Amino acid sequence: MISYSLRNRPGPSRRRRSGLRIAIAAGTAGAVAAIGLMATAGSAHAVGTLGNAAAAQGRYFGTAVAAGHLGETAYTNALDAEFGAVTPENEMKWDTIEANQNSFNFGPGDQIVAHAQSQNMKIRGHTLVWYSQLPGWVSGLSASALQSAMNNHITQVMTHYKGEIYAWDVVNEAFQDGGSGARRSSPFQDKLGSGYIETAFRTARAADPNAKLCYNDYNTDGVNAKSTAVYNMVKDFKARGVPIDCVGFQGHFNPQSPVPGDFQANLQRFADLGVDVQMTEVDVAGSGTAQANNYTTIVKGCLAVSRCTGITVWGVTDKYSWRSGDTPLLLDGNYQKKASYNAVLAALGSGGGTSGGTSAGTSSGTSSGTSSGTSAGTSSGTSSGTTGGTGGSCTAAVTAGSQWSDRYNLNVTVSGSTNWTVTANIPYPEKVLSTWNISATYPNAQQLVAKPNGSGNNWGLTIQKNGSTTWPTFTCTTS
Ligand code: XIL
Repeated sequence: MISYSLRNRPGPSRRRRSGLRIAIAAGTAGAVAAIGLMATAGSAHAVGTLGNAAAAQGRYFGTAVAAGHLGETAYTNALDAEFGAVTPENEMKWDTIEANQNSFNFGPGDQIVAHAQSQNMKIRGHTLVWYSQLPGWVSGLSASALQSAMNNHITQVMTHYKGEIYAWDVVNEAFQDGGSGARRSSPFQDKLGSGYIETAFRTARAADPNAKLCYNDYNTDGVNAKSTAVYNMVKDFKARGVPIDCVGFQGHFNPQSPVPGDFQANLQRFADLGVDVQMTEVDVAGSGTAQANNYTTIVKGCLAVSRCTGITVWGVTDKYSWRSGDTPLLLDGNYQKKASYNAVLAALGSGGGTSGGTSAGTSSGTSSGTSSGTSAGTSSGTSSGTTGGTGGSCTAAVTAGSQWSDRYNLNVTVSGSTNWTVTANIPYPEKVLSTWNISATYPNAQQLVAKPNGSGNNWGLTIQKNGSTTWPTFTCTTS
């Protein structure tokens, strides 16, 4: 195993990777044109078929990746052909990165990061604080030594990958299964108490302020005691200003435990707390139509929740799935597309217009869809929604405007109504700097509500990047 300290890590690959990132992010007034040229010149910009279909909906579609398979041509071809995001399956876990205290092995994680960057894929970091795949030395520490070791681990790992990770699973699987809603026993919980989760998030924010910070867990995909315990923690964090940006739902399903009927409602209740939600490790045991239907529900549920920013399946092919006997993925062992693959692609293509109405009945008759593109290439998106009030409907079509290093413009054209309201959810840490041709209000720091101000249906906004260029999601409603 290659092991080297932070000070002693290989320079060239770091410099090469950072350079690429800067090249992609480097904004000038001509950034869109420059990106277009790069793509024409054959520079890797493909984010894959599923990835592109998701990008057209303003989402990413990713997969877990194992560094050990990147040398297999069929594996890498399938990865590059289909996906727009990756999560290292094991390479960023504590037992790989810091098997021995304060000796860091970033090699396998770096391999995945380099590959992802060469394909312009997003990267989810997985995971910083987890009771599993945790080296023995950690559980042997005293409380104060463990506190220091946890903070050091978070800080060193996030600093190494600073600016390269879209979202980190800061804490993974901290809650017990079943009805207790209690925290799971772990060295962290048992020695540091429940406050370790808050400390981990605060330490993470300080280490890489531009990475989204997620809590990630399983059996939380529907409304149940465990997901409600997580919900209460997130609510408390938001109320007290503890930094948290997103909640990951692993999405490991099987015929006995399929996607729950309240899946979408559960995602929505978390989103309503002011966090993004993501499906982070999806796989569904089974085959054929039953498996495909579960995948369809997941995709449609995510698309119907404007703050559901992406879906990751837990592997490229059934051959290398952590539960390969369950054939839970979208490509079979020979990289052939399964019925589930076709279902996912169809659901991504069909848009987000599932009929809404929350279980609380607060918005009965509402249906909405959202879509946007990223500044990394796609240049248009649409969004539409209809209120139950007057039966009208409207669409907001969004295209890229000028770009600068620190900010970018989007142009919006509303059609179908003159009495519209467009809500834009601005992905943190981006901020709206200015708008034109609308009456703008801001219900919260990450939301813009636009109404006509007599200037017609063409309007726009300038967004400050703060290190991120993901477009907001736009929802149009009539009143
Ligand atoms: C799994 C990997 O897929 C396996 O290769 C490894 O042996 C064990 O971990 N929840 C998580 C993931 O958060 O990290 C786990 O990944 C699957 C369950």
